[in-house]
This record gives sequence, structure tokens and C-alpha cells, in this order.
Amino acid sequence: MTEEAVVISQEVLAEGIFSLWLQTEAIAGQSVSGQFVTLYCRDRSRMLPRPISICEAQRENGKLRLVYRTAGEGTKEFSHLAPGDTVRVMGPLGNGYPELSRIAEKLPAADETGKEIRALLVGGGIGIPPLLQLAGDLACRKTAVLGYRSEQFLLAEFEACADVAVATEDGSAGTRGTVLDAIRERNLQGDVILACGPKPMLRALKEYAQQQKMLCYVSLEERMACGIGACLACVCKTTDEDEHSRVHNTRICREGPVFDAGRILL
Ligand code: FES
Repeated sequence: MTEEAVVISQEVLAEGIFSLWLQTEAIAGQSVSGQFVTLYCRDRSRMLPRPISICEAQRENGKLRLVYRTAGEGTKEFSHLAPGDTVRVMGPLGNGYPELSRIAEKLPAADETGKEIRALLVGGGIGIPPLLQLAGDLACRKTAVLGYRSEQFLLAEFEACADVAVATEDGSAGTRGTVLDAIRERNLQGDVILACGPKPMLRALKEYAQQQKMLCYVSLEERMACGIGACLACVCKTTDEDEHSRVHNTRICREGPVFDAGRILL
């Protein structure tokens, strides 16, 4: 669905990173964690809407929070939105992370409510904000493992809904190194990894999950362009074999952005 959303507020979190709260009629109410929306530019020369992940959705009162990085003229235009301005939004789009009951089905030892499942929510860079809604929604034991470049932009809101482990490349906060360094240093255990972030991080997590016999779901939102199935810039290969070509392509924006890591080639 498409709505004319009203800007409630916008703030700069760090250089080039913005937090935008929108009032929507129905999109917030229908969204699940891991989905995204697309925003239309006012400048008609930029026809394709820009995909942005949902960071938080206050479903009961129609408020939607998007945290995004400016990466081109479209997102630069959004960074100038001020309270009271309107912006056309389409969504919610994509599949989102699996529900706890679906994860529990795949873990023989878990009861069907999934409450005893231990989840590691692992995010890197601008892949961190989409995990915030998930951290709030998942009613199980969970640790958010968050990998930043430096302490310049830390989303403190995770503290309210999960145990938090931080890794920074420059060592300015938490473990110096990657999210996997933080997992190993703190000996974090889990049944499932739910991740979002850059491809090398997702690849490493997929491998780690295979070694540890954990389930692993990754969001490939970083690789989206138009977000509406039109440009094919987001295509990735899956392990499902096509009779003719021997490989099977899938569109991240339509069939994802969240995939069972074992089903895709990273
Ligand atoms: Fe354009 Fe998926 S992002 S087709």
C-alpha cells in the first residue's frame, strides 16, 4: 500500500546517518520486524523509490521509525525532511524475520512457544537499526551483538530489550574487532542467529552457524536498489537448483530480504 506519511521528527545520529519518525495510517500497524518501506522523492527525475528498513514500528499508534544513511541524491533529499512535511511511502515490503514458533519447529529440543530459544541478533553498521524492532518483538532469551566502526553512533535503545555485546573496529567501545570476535570473547551461546549487515559479515556468520549447528537467518537488505522488483539489481543465487541453468536466482526485495542462510549463496 502507498500512503502520504507525515514527518513527526528527524534527527542526525552521526555524520550521514539520520533517524526519521513518520506518522502513517496503516503501514506501521501491518509491519513485522525485518520488513522495509520505500520512500518516493519529490524530485520527479528520480522515479524509483528508495528502500529503507524499518527500525521501529509503534503499531498501535501508526508511528514508524526509519534509520538510514545518505547514499545518493534521493536519501539526501529525505535528510532535509522536517516536521509537518509529507512523503509518499510504500510498504510494508518483504518477508521479515521468521516468527519464534517457526524457529521452534526447526529446533527439535524447543517447546512450541519458543520461549526458551536463545537468539543472537547480530548487526553490522547500518544493518543494526532493523534489528531493534526484532529485539523488542522476540519473546525469548536474546543477545544483540552489534558491530560498529567506532563509538560515534551507538544505538542505546537495544539495552531496554536485550543483553548487548558491542564490537568496534577501532576498539573505542566493547570488543576490538568484529561481531564474531565479540561472540567468541564473551562465549555467547545461541540456537539461532538473526543477522543484518554487510555481506562479508553475513558470510562469516553463516559459516560460524554451520560449525556450531545453529540456525541462521540473514537479511540482505544492504543489496537492494529500487525495492519494488523492477531493476533486478538485488538478484542473488540460491541453492535451489533450476533444471536448466542449474542455479536459481531470487530477488531480495520480493522473496527476501530475510533468507535462511543455508538456502542462499553469499
Ligand atoms: Fe530492484 Fe529488487 S531492488 S528488483
